[in-house]
Amino acid sequence: MAKEFDVVVIGAGPGGYIAAIRAAQLGMSVACVEKWKNPKGELALGGTCLNVGCIPSKALLASSEEFEKIGHHAKDHGISVSDVKIDIAKMLARKDGIVTKMTKGIEFLFRKNKITWLKGHGKLVATNDSGYQIDVTGDDASESVTAKHIIIATGSKARHLPGVPVDNKIVADNEGALNFDTVPKKLGVIGAGVIGLELGSVWRRVGSEVTVLEAMPTFLGAADESIAKEAGKLLAKQGLNIHVGVNISKVTTDKNGVTLAYTDKDGKDQTLVVDRLIVSVGRVPNTDDLGLGNLGLAVDERGFIPVDDHCRTKLPNVYAIGDVVRGPMLAHKAEDEGVMVAEVIAGQKPHIDYNCIPWVIYTAPEIAWVGKTEQQLKAEGRAYKAGQFPFMANGRALGMAASDGFVKVLADAATDEILGVHIIGLNASDLIAEAVVAMEFKAASEDIGRICHPHPSLSEVMREAALGVEKRSLNM
Ligand code: FAD
Ligand code: NAI
Repeated sequence: MAKEFDVVVIGAGPGGYIAAIRAAQLGMSVACVEKWKNPKGELALGGTCLNVGCIPSKALLASSEEFEKIGHHAKDHGISVSDVKIDIAKMLARKDGIVTKMTKGIEFLFRKNKITWLKGHGKLVATNDSGYQIDVTGDDASESVTAKHIIIATGSKARHLPGVPVDNKIVADNEGALNFDTVPKKLGVIGAGVIGLELGSVWRRVGSEVTVLEAMPTFLGAADESIAKEAGKLLAKQGLNIHVGVNISKVTTDKNGVTLAYTDKDGKDQTLVVDRLIVSVGRVPNTDDLGLGNLGLAVDERGFIPVDDHCRTKLPNVYAIGDVVRGPMLAHKAEDEGVMVAEVIAGQKPHIDYNCIPWVIYTAPEIAWVGKTEQQLKAEGRAYKAGQFPFMANGRALGMAASDGFVKVLADAATDEILGVHIIGLNASDLIAEAVVAMEFKAASEDIGRICHPHPSLSEVMREAALGVEKRSLNM
């Protein structure tokens, strides 16, 4: 007889594995289907995020930033270093070690929470008397299980461009770009989005001459315009060549590398020849051979599984979360949806405020925001006030040689409720958490302005920006 579970989760990325853990904490019997294989051919939990996304990219960002600091900025502190070299094989091995530690950690969490890992490809098959039938096809064995509730958390995969075959050696998506075994002398990047900027920065710091080609006429369109402008300026100063408004017509690959033919923003024909190319033009939801049609489910015109605010599909007891549904493709968004769905199944009444999901781009300096941008508030016709404060006027930032960037707080003109916070600066990924808490609690900018912040610390910049909403910053 088929094994029966209260909940079967398909996919063990940050959405799926967190949903499985929360459902198990709430007393349900849980299985999670996962088929990911690492480069050694071993099955691994953790999905895109742990294997080829957030975690390995941040490891490479940290290594390359250390290299750049030691090579170029140590002298500012009076430290002399010479002959600074980077061993790319060691850098990659360090990253791989972190990935293994993290993915094995999830195996431990599964054991701790008595979650059954069903190893293989999961497919929705039919409804039956006890719920839904799911077939799991593994390398050695296949089985059918029954689920009272299903959580689809199958994530996303890199979007590729027609006529630009990805071999993950010369032309790479995120997977190959995390694994270049040598530093490409010249590196091309298609797409100045999050991956393009983060991985473009990694390889630039270790010695590549990086050119980023972006189709949109503006750069970082989702960010507040002032932040995007500042980021463009700082990244260009670091040596990242970003060309916006391009139209790539042809990409050819031969033994010498890759040639890109494109028109620039003025409509002039251009050619870029590079040793390697990263294609980072967005990601698409993953529903390959999932059997959605067997249950009468369909995807929308962009390939996402339609869900409501609580991630319910149109079928009873079938939910979908994370990158495979609407909303930002972010690990913490997937995780929060996983927790929410497990709690909905348990009869609780959880809720996610999607306006309070922060974004972080891990360039140097980091970029982070939550809530509305100035351009969104203008488009909505909402009256707001803005307070801004530069890291340049903060003693801790100067001491840390991190004076680039600023914090901007946007608050409702009448009620002073915080509507958005935008940061470009060192540790923006951590600083933004204060703004998220404030917005979740519907705080006013005055609240942040009145709260004692440690001195000297980067967090004082947040307070000063909040005070700036009423034009009463103290240190400027
Ligand atoms: P995924 O992590 O994609 O996991 C889905 C899992 O489902 C996979 O393991 C897959 O093998 C499995 N699966 C799919 N179909 C089946 C099936 N039929 N049967 C069995 N298993 C199946 N986000 C951030 O918030 N911060 C970052 O810093 C960040 N950095 C990133 C860097 C890179 C290079 C990339 C590519 C992404 C990054 N992201 C980041 C995005 C983040 O990785 C995703 O938003 C997140 O992984 C989505 O989680 P998920 O659980 O929905 O899906
Ligand atoms: P993206 O959506 O961030 O950026 C893609 C860029 O490519 C856009 O600017 C787009 O205009 C451009 N583009 C599309 N087609 C093009 C073409 N033909 N020619 C030139 N430019 C073109 O996608 P990206 O960078 O691939 O990342 C995918 C997702 O992964 C992100 O949206 C994000 O959700 C997630 N991610 C998150 C990170 C984080 O939170 N720090 C880090 C990396 C990825």
